[in-house]
Amino acid sequence: MTELQTKQEELLTLLRNPASGNPLVFENGVMLDPHTGETFDFRDGIPVILRPDDVFGWNRKQQRGYNLFSPLYDVLYKFKLAHKWLAEIADIMEVESGEYVLETSVGTGQQIRDMKRRGIAAHFFGNDLSFGMLRRCQKNMKRWEIDMGLVQGNAESLPFQDTLFDVVFHVGGFNFFNDKLAAITEMIRVAKPGAKLYIADETDTIRDRPGLLARIADRWMPRREAFVTPIDLIPKDMLHVETHTLLKDKFWLVAFRKP
Ligand SMILES: C[S@@+](CC[C@H](N)C(=O)[O-])C[C@H]1O[C@@H](n2cnc3c(N)ncnc32)[C@H](O)[C@@H]1O
Repeated sequence: MTELQTKQEELLTLLRNPASGNPLVFENGVMLDPHTGETFDFRDGIPVILRPDDVFGWNRKQQRGYNLFSPLYDVLYKFKLAHKWLAEIADIMEVESGEYVLETSVGTGQQIRDMKRRGIAAHFFGNDLSFGMLRRCQKNMKRWEIDMGLVQGNAESLPFQDTLFDVVFHVGGFNFFNDKLAAITEMIRVAKPGAKLYIADETDTIRDRPGLLARIADRWMPRREAFVTPIDLIPKDMLHVETHTLLKDKFWLVAFRKP
């Protein structure tokens, strides 16, 4: 790995085939699984490590919804409340310059932007199911001058090899994953021993708010049981497991360390 390599180039050396588990290699313009012969294409320079059949159920709804919503998503971060929320997340998450950091379901990259604003110069990587969100993220990263590696892939079967990251975190998509335990297991797999892991999403207080937000929640998020802090899904051998609430109970956050 040379210092001149961009994170997008470096990312190509970190990928694996989620189906076989084999490391992928870049060959003839595609990502190749040398053992099975399966290939994965690129779209706008972003590797697509996802088969259409892999995306179903709630993941499919999320993918479609966020593709549609992606042009408007960054508007959410213009509100003062979002800044308070980012500050509360930053108070809990420990991320140091020089660390390898993966955000699963990176969206448009707003959490990474906040880290840069706080002076954290880490090696940033992210995946998402929605190409619309990734495309926005790619544009944002250019605009915000952040070198980041992006891949289209499912948080429940991450396209990364084992034990790569010092920090693995997720904010905002977890409640509607098809398989929450798989997403947690995957975050742990790609984390190095001793790595810090963080998962956050909304509590069901979103429904108690009057007006538009509650109506959107009822229309698009009818599974009230989904909004549960996944403390029972964190494997028993994880260390320093802590739960937090953010924005006066509007969000939960679970933090832990890989042994
Ligand atoms: C509310 S946004 C959060 C984006 C970003 N983490 C943030 O804090 O701004 C949720 C994101 O999760 C992504 N997502 C949902 N299900 C996913 C899955 N199974 N794998 C990867 N990304 C997923 C969506 O496409 C969307 O970009």
